Amino acid sequence: MSTRVGIMFGGPPGEHEVSCASALAVVRALDRDQFEPVVIGVTRERELRLVPDGLLDRLMARPAGGLAIDDRLEAVGTPVELRSRRPRAAVVSIGHHAVLAELDVVFPLLHGPFGEDGVLQGMLEALGVAYAGCGVAASAVGMDKVAMKRAFIAEGLPVTPHVWFDEDRWHANGDHQPGLDRLAWPRYVKPANMGSSIGISRVTCRDELIDAVEEALGYDSVVLVEQGITAAREIECGVLGGFEPAASAVGEVAVAGEWFDYGQKYLSEADPMTVPADLPVAVAKEVREVSVRAFQAIGGWGLARVDFLYDESGRLYLNELNTMPGFTAHSMYPKVWEATDLPYTELITRLIELAFERHARRSRPPRLLARSLTPFGPT
Ligand SMILES: Nc1ncnc2c1ncn2[C@@H]1O[C@H](COP(=O)(O)OP(=O)(O)O)[C@@H](O)[C@H]1O
Ligand SMILES: [Mg+2]
Repeated sequence: MSTRVGIMFGGPPGEHEVSCASALAVVRALDRDQFEPVVIGVTRERELRLVPDGLLDRLMARPAGGLAIDDRLEAVGTPVELRSRRPRAAVVSIGHHAVLAELDVVFPLLHGPFGEDGVLQGMLEALGVAYAGCGVAASAVGMDKVAMKRAFIAEGLPVTPHVWFDEDRWHANGDHQPGLDRLAWPRYVKPANMGSSIGISRVTCRDELIDAVEEALGYDSVVLVEQGITAAREIECGVLGGFEPAASAVGEVAVAGEWFDYGQKYLSEADPMTVPADLPVAVAKEVREVSVRAFQAIGGWGLARVDFLYDESGRLYLNELNTMPGFTAHSMYPKVWEATDLPYTELITRLIELAFERHARRSRPPRLLARSLTPFGPT
């Protein structure tokens, strides 16, 4: 019998459409000899919908789209909930009686807050079902740019000079934050928890900085200010695996203008990616090594795309790590693995295998816990 894979996608506004595009690409590429997809959309309001076969068949019948994200699933269909069916499955149901489908494993393809930050992962942990990608803690650290930087610094990885503060400290001290003066201009102002360049500004003077912090505070109560790395090339690398993961070929994103904003990321038809990037062998090697260490620093599992800034003087800065990077067939993460002789379909299969591996490791009988609880158990 084939393994039933719950493909979850959509989620809150911001990165909803990108996720819908990733999900259609995965449904198309899934190895049907091994896997049967159960496609579950998450609406912008975070409600679950079982996508009807009719819609899937219609979308699948169309030729796969190009780079833009208009070739995508929609989070529509029967309102459903997920319930636990231990030891290792979940059911998709309407209320407590009508079970519509069973899942052996979930492949979450959501980006940003809720789907990539440990919230959905926590829900799947509570259900006791295996799921692809990072666990709760790694997802949360990977989404929080401040926590992520601290994890990187603890491992001695090369981050950009930065300062962070919460809204109370901002309202008390304004731009007299300790250390802020030491950051050269331009600076980048970022909400700690977000993605897809949303809420991020590049600023060149004090007035712009103040406006940018106020804007970033609209997305999160903690804000990061980073020194801008000027004339930097944007280099990205894929990591895949468990405790001893592998790094992929290295890619480059050609950014038009000053920085890689939302419009360029998702609305542009031009393909900005080069794989492999034209880099000295030693630099590509360093990118791959730092990528693996960055993944391990956050306690990653499954996958992450690690993003760097490489400046004209030859310095490499670790910018960030994404635990659920864009995942259409044209996205950087699948592309760097294609260039490493791992085709898209096999990459998806590998991530599902890793989901089961992590679940098995975590489901070992809790021996110590059982012993310590004995006094309260049946005698
Ligand atoms: N310190 C920096 N120096 C130069 N460019 C930066 C810096 N930080 C961010 N950027 C630019 O802004 C983009 C988005 O920032 P990033 O931290 O990657 O946020 P997101 O999680 O939204 O992708 C980057 O791809 C890069 O173009
Ligand atoms: Mg980024």
